[in-house]
Amino acid sequence: MKNLLPVYRKVPVVVARAKGKYIWAENGEKYLDFLSGISVTNMGHCDKKVVAAIKKQADQYLHVSNLYHDRNQEKYARWIVKKTFPGFVFFSNSGAEANELAIKLVRRYGASRGKYRIITFKNSFHGRTISTISATGQDKFRKGFSPLLSGFDYAVFNDFDSVIKKTGDKTVAVIVEPVQGEGGVYVAEKRFIRELSTFCRRRKILLIFDEIQTGFGRCGKMFAFEIYGVIPDVLTLAKSAGGGLPLGITVIRKGLEKFLPAGSHGSTFGGNPVSVAAGLAHASQINGKVLARVKSTGKFFIGHLEKLREKYPAIREIRGVGLMIAVEFVKPVAREVSVFFLKNKILVNACKENIIRFLPPFTIGKNDIIKLVKTLEIFLKKEV
Ligand SMILES: Cc1ncc(COP(=O)(O)O)c(C=O)c1O
Repeated sequence: MKNLLPVYRKVPVVVARAKGKYIWAENGEKYLDFLSGISVTNMGHCDKKVVAAIKKQADQYLHVSNLYHDRNQEKYARWIVKKTFPGFVFFSNSGAEANELAIKLVRRYGASRGKYRIITFKNSFHGRTISTISATGQDKFRKGFSPLLSGFDYAVFNDFDSVIKKTGDKTVAVIVEPVQGEGGVYVAEKRFIRELSTFCRRRKILLIFDEIQTGFGRCGKMFAFEIYGVIPDVLTLAKSAGGGLPLGITVIRKGLEKFLPAGSHGSTFGGNPVSVAAGLAHASQINGKVLARVKSTGKFFIGHLEKLREKYPAIREIRGVGLMIAVEFVKPVAREVSVFFLKNKILVNACKENIIRFLPPFTIGKNDIIKLVKTLEIFLKKEV
């Protein structure tokens, strides 16, 4: 693999195949997957209905252009609007692109009033393009890429006063992740989001929820904004939106579409027919029963991790909601922990030097969780 740009710290697993909650390597090793491709294959790898939808669509057409109608695009857009709020859907290819359109919309929305500034949050993550690293409130993703896109102000997550302090006469939008995923699984407090929502509505500031990681059932609701009882103006989705294929989605509330008329935005591959067919087959399986399972399995998982925390002072905190869970250690041992899990054939992610993140498929069982917790306990007994 010497010709691949070395931007990823790859784990030494050469994948042969994947099914459900397992990944098999070329050398025959079988791994229990607690990452789901970073919250992509929420219903498990190679889900039967998703694969069938891909095969069916691939037999019909792969790509024709957004200049023509695709029935599944219309169907998926209807499904999303029904599950979110009255509005319009734009399909792209990735999370960064979904956020890019949100930022473009903000510019047009504020233009007539000379407003353009966007509040985002410290420790946030919104993507890897120039505009989305500019929105991202973490220096490590921006380092060396200046000049960045101007117009972003970074407030403190879960601190409403800091939002007020950062708001100026040119502020026109706020972008928030309900749970900061890449940042280490920090959950937004209910009061904070409610205050933010009321504030934005009063000031005609657009409230944008980046649910690229939290969406499609990950937090025990179809979309995490439901937890807070607020409705954003714009919702950005990706990751599991395509059921394993690339798909970004920007949902814009009714009334805002006038800022994006024909010709104002587009994408050659956005809403690719195969990705849309896969996404629709994936999303339509996430029903009340699945969501209830995410909630109860998540509680079970957090409960067991909390017991470990009580026993081992090496663990500072357990955070999470639904099946989006993190363990924060006192020391920077996350990489060591993930290597230990790998040796024990469990795949997890070290998202910060002292934080391990779990995003298992919704089909994960209680016995799998117990296996993971026992493995972590062996590490804690031996190493820390
Ligand atoms: C909250 C959030 N926003 C945006 C992105 C960027 O998505 P993509 O990698 O598909 O561009 C991610 C990816 O991790 C994310 O978690």
